Amino acid sequence: MSQLTEEAVLDQLRNIIDPDLKKDIVTLEFIKDLKIEGGDVSFRIVLTTPACPVKDEFENQAKELVGSIEGVTAVNVTMDAEVPQGRGVANNVALPGVKNIIAVSSGKGGVGKSTVAVNLAVALSQNGASVGLMDADVYGPNVPMMFGVNEQPQVGPGNKLIPLEGHGVKLISMAFLVPPDKPMVLRGPMLHGVVRQFLSDVDWGELDYLIVDMPPGTGDVQLSLAQLVPVQGSVLVTTPQNVSLSDVTRAFKMFEQVAVPVLGVVENMSYFVPPDMPEKRYNIFGEGGGSDFAETHGIPFLGEVPLGMEVREGGDNGTPVVVSHPDSPQAAAFRSVAEAVAQQISIEAMKPELVIMSKA
Ligand SMILES: Nc1ncnc2c1ncn2[C@@H]1O[C@H](COP(=O)(O)OP(=O)(O)O)[C@@H](O)[C@H]1O
Ligand SMILES: [Mg+2]
Repeated sequence: MSQLTEEAVLDQLRNIIDPDLKKDIVTLEFIKDLKIEGGDVSFRIVLTTPACPVKDEFENQAKELVGSIEGVTAVNVTMDAEVPQGRGVANNVALPGVKNIIAVSSGKGGVGKSTVAVNLAVALSQNGASVGLMDADVYGPNVPMMFGVNEQPQVGPGNKLIPLEGHGVKLISMAFLVPPDKPMVLRGPMLHGVVRQFLSDVDWGELDYLIVDMPPGTGDVQLSLAQLVPVQGSVLVTTPQNVSLSDVTRAFKMFEQVAVPVLGVVENMSYFVPPDMPEKRYNIFGEGGGSDFAETHGIPFLGEVPLGMEVREGGDNGTPVVVSHPDSPQAAAFRSVAEAVAQQISIEAMKPELVIMSKA
């Protein structure tokens, strides 16, 4: 049994290894404000995302390990999170308060891209992160309906638009700015202007994550976004069947070309469990396509989301399923996707070359 010193506490905490970053939490500098008063030891563990799946495990391990040191009468652990600033590939529009931009994309429409973007944003915010959602689907903006929010944003200081807010998430959408009966005829250069405006003329403030709901496919909006700001990564959404997967391959290749890291694949509408027959599982759109795709391309599989009426209803009535049915399997699946995305963002941000860059 060792003596109660700061070094002894840190030595014990070195036994806790972050499974993603593959280093111990002392080396990763997660331990802050370590104090020893008599037999009372207190410190904060500052994780790289509030959506950390191993948060509780770290807390319990820390209490147990430090509690085993001779002379310790109490261990006070505060769990905290600071999302690291992501690294960028392009930075033509300055967004100083926004730490990470995540594009939610798919090869084609109707696979649940907006549904994933919305539930991902709300789930991250439920975990305590500050989150914005930019509806970049200028042709079919769905975000207003999915949040039940649609009014004209106010203009604030510096002539910037103040984003609207829904379920704790800051929102901007083309639909807030253009009357619904006015058809949108926008060509390439104009689209670039819209994307630029949504980034630079909106007062996003401080955000851990800015989620971007992309239009389907691989067009001008995708390129504009990648050219204008550092996109930390893209999340690809697909359904299990092959047609959808050949489209997602195109999307994957495009992000590769513009040097945006692909954080992984989400398979949506994976299967259906009839509520009155919970032991049944129907693979309506096929099986395993998303995870096969991830394996083929060497990218993470971020999870599968089952079909569910609550998901569609939530999308139609402005209450995303993670809010309306938090105990449903669909909500659990979205939360787990959110954790996996946050994890990948942390891994990208903590890659060794970044540490060197940020110290330069
Ligand atoms: N897991 C799901 N279960 C049931 N309905 C879903 C699911 N995911 C999406 N939907 C529904 O499918 C439709 C298309 O989804 P949407 O998110 O708008 O797709 P996209 O943005 O890719 O065009 C919407 O009506 C949505 O509510
Ligand atoms: Mg959509």
